[in-house]
Amino acid sequence: MLHFDIVTIFPEFFAGPFSHGILKRAQETELVKITAHDLRRFTEDKHRTVDDRPFGGGAGMVLKAEPVFKAVESLIAAGMKHEFARREIILLSPQGKKFTQAEAFRLAERESIILICGRYEGVDERVAEHLATSELSIGDYVLTGGELAAAVVVDAVTRLIPGALGNEVSRALDSFSFTPAAGPTGKMDAAEVGGLSWPQYTRPEEFRGWKVPEILMSGNHREIQKWREEKARGKTARMRPDLLPNLEFKAVR
Ligand code: ADE
Repeated sequence: MLHFDIVTIFPEFFAGPFSHGILKRAQETELVKITAHDLRRFTEDKHRTVDDRPFGGGAGMVLKAEPVFKAVESLIAAGMKHEFARREIILLSPQGKKFTQAEAFRLAERESIILICGRYEGVDERVAEHLATSELSIGDYVLTGGELAAAVVVDAVTRLIPGALGNEVSRALDSFSFTPAAGPTGKMDAAEVGGLSWPQYTRPEEFRGWKVPEILMSGNHREIQKWREEKARGKTARMRPDLLPNLEFKAVR
């Protein structure tokens, strides 16, 4: 079972995002355990202070190192059974390395993932330097805190755990994931990230005058596969030309 421990000043925030669909079922079937921990529990002053003014001046407040270290150290002590090599301590911040599907695959192999949600104008840099094993950003924009980012990471990683999706094939056919190695078993290497997925249609065949592409009704699987590869490549070229260089298309089935 993969344990996610989220360190946050808003533990109640996480009541919603994980109570539905695949995330809910993954917890019920004990593929994952997700716990949010209140950072203020790890303060010792009577005001339960988690932030302070930045050295060197400037606007805003900075999350203090001490409560974050204490929270993470207590989680590590409580989870000593987890192999060191299979534990990850992630600081969510806009300064982090970009979170990608390849990183999600890597994290899905872990036993314990501790997620530290940044807040205010920043987090004391000693957390990134001496506590976190990595610092991740979910994209080039600034959120009010790391909570939404942590929820994104938990979601993207959980759905990759074998058994989390009812249908293991669909994982291999995701955007960013389909490669020659993807195959119908969904087995693939974390380093292999492709481009965007192809367009999908369902009934009715005609909706407000717009018809489903003829080829998809032909039953000719070889031609359908060719069409999907072309469409996927075209869409990637138009929407995400940055992904083209590492793209080697081979749609499966
Ligand atoms: N905290 C604020 N913005 C963020 C981002 N883009 N990714 C991760 N954590 C964040």
